[in-house]
Amino acid sequence: MTNINSISGNTKVYAIIADPIHHVKTPAAMNDLFSARGEDGVLVPFHVAPEDLPTVVAGLRGIQSLEGFIVTVPHKTTIVDLCDSVTEAARVVGAVNVVTRTKAGKLHGDILDGAGFVAGLRQAGIEPKGLSAYLAGAGGAANAIAFALAEAGVKRLTIANRTAKKAQDLVERIAASFPAVELSVGTSDPSDHDLVVNGTSLGLRPGDALPCDASKLTSNQIVAEIIMQPAITPLLAAAKEVGCRVHQGLPMLLCQIELMAAVMASK
Ligand code: ATR
Repeated sequence: MTNINSISGNTKVYAIIADPIHHVKTPAAMNDLFSARGEDGVLVPFHVAPEDLPTVVAGLRGIQSLEGFIVTVPHKTTIVDLCDSVTEAARVVGAVNVVTRTKAGKLHGDILDGAGFVAGLRQAGIEPKGLSAYLAGAGGAANAIAFALAEAGVKRLTIANRTAKKAQDLVERIAASFPAVELSVGTSDPSDHDLVVNGTSLGLRPGDALPCDASKLTSNQIVAEIIMQPAITPLLAAAKEVGCRVHQGLPMLLCQIELMAAVMASK
């Protein structure tokens, strides 16, 4: 952790905005990173309800020691329109999870969920380029991951979601940006793909259904999660049982923290 006694009038301030906020792991991770790099920065939690977000964000523009902030559930889509500009990735995904603040108080948004996920895969030696991938989910996180996998060069991408219309819509938006990727809306059957990704929130709560039909998994598949807790979700447990290589949810967060630090430092 950053030593809070070393905070001075020159310390750069960052925040994470969420509701609820009690579970967030980003402050400890980011403050550790600042310490390790010898940076004079601190990240603090801001608990903000959805109805207060516009007022809070308007106020943040005027805080001159604020370098930027991280935005998470449930604000990731609402914040888009509260930014002055957003990256192409944030525009296509329709969500922002990191905002930098210029000296003039302008806010620039980016989305790093997908880039963090792909960086986590690569750090583990899994290169998505050329793979066939099955993605369960079409919500905020799944959108970001789908675009990042397409950008990373997957050969084929199948998207399956409880609400099929959202999967279809996501497929169409990816097709518009990445015409070379073979895209389709899938069923609950993840077989015949090199990489199987859970991009839904299923697995977070005890008793959740599996995000896909794990009985169809085969030992040559890699099964990856975005859920961090539990570290071994029922999907990963089932995949291990079959003999698949599994990739847990935590690297996505750790890589995102690195990317966020880089985005904030580069402004
Ligand atoms: P996040 O920002 O964490 O991705 P989200 O945008 O609410 O959250 O997306 C949640 C994802 O989990 C969606 O794909 C959702 O499916 P729907 O689009 O059909 O809602 C999926 N999901 C959540 N609960 C589910 C359940 N009980 N069964 C199947 N899918 C579920």
